[in-house]
Amino acid sequence: MAQNDSILKINNLSVAYGHVQALNDISLDVKRGEIVVLVGANGAGKTSIMETVLGANVPVSGDIEFKGMHIGGVPVDKNVRNGMFLVPEGRGVFSSMTVMDNLLLGAHHNLKNSTEKLELVFESFPVLGERRTQVAGTLSGGERQMLAIARALMSSPEMIMVDEPSIGLAPIIVNDIFEILVNLNKEGYSILLSEQNVYKALKIAHRGYVLETGKITKSGTAEELLNDEAVREAYLGA
Ligand SMILES: Nc1ncnc2c1ncn2[C@@H]1O[C@H](COP(=O)(O)OP(=O)(O)OP(=O)(O)O)[C@@H](O)[C@H]1O
Ligand SMILES: [Mg+2]
Repeated sequence: MAQNDSILKINNLSVAYGHVQALNDISLDVKRGEIVVLVGANGAGKTSIMETVLGANVPVSGDIEFKGMHIGGVPVDKNVRNGMFLVPEGRGVFSSMTVMDNLLLGAHHNLKNSTEKLELVFESFPVLGERRTQVAGTLSGGERQMLAIARALMSSPEMIMVDEPSIGLAPIIVNDIFEILVNLNKEGYSILLSEQNVYKALKIAHRGYVLETGKITKSGTAEELLNDEAVREAYLGA
């Protein structure tokens, strides 16, 4: 397949925090239009991958390409302007600010057409439209996760990285959030997802990578991973 088929390509990436080697020779890619899930236990390195792609960590070695451009050393704001966004673990919305201000903050790298973008977001997320003047800290967990995802859309990304969106949410709300991700993917957004809710994540993903203590130990289509005995035993409780 052509190289530029991948929106994100990570080659032999290693990342350390002081003496802690968080990522060890990671290679993976996300093709345009895919949902790719990172599967791994606590501390496996899922967040480290996303933060390094975003430009928030400086790798020890390796290479990251986004839309065919080498982005090693590119700062976060430039990566966001180039079309990627990270919906961080724990949602990371500003609790004391309104829904609307949180959304506008998501657009601050590219304020062009922000009024139109707001209207589009409120169309996709009517709950947020109804609550546009509500302070984010008083939203339910599910609404807050919707806000975090909606805020990502305000920057007009082509690829969204979503770090453990289901954490702390009731199963029925998790289904809503995953449905939102599926719909965004159908609209054309490429998605790199990290999840501990492995079964549900693989059900919506095209492909996945299994991470163990900073190394990729397995990769395949979502179906292959769902049927893999070791994956089932370790992550699916079966
Ligand atoms: N800022 C940091 N300083 C030191 N060590 C860190 C830092 N961030 C992460 N680590 C370490 O790097 C490793 C990978 O962490 P990371 O947060 O990427 O894992 P994760 O897969 O996202 O885990 P979780 O599921 O708990 O979110 C862990 O050993 C962690 O303790
Ligand atoms: Mg994490």
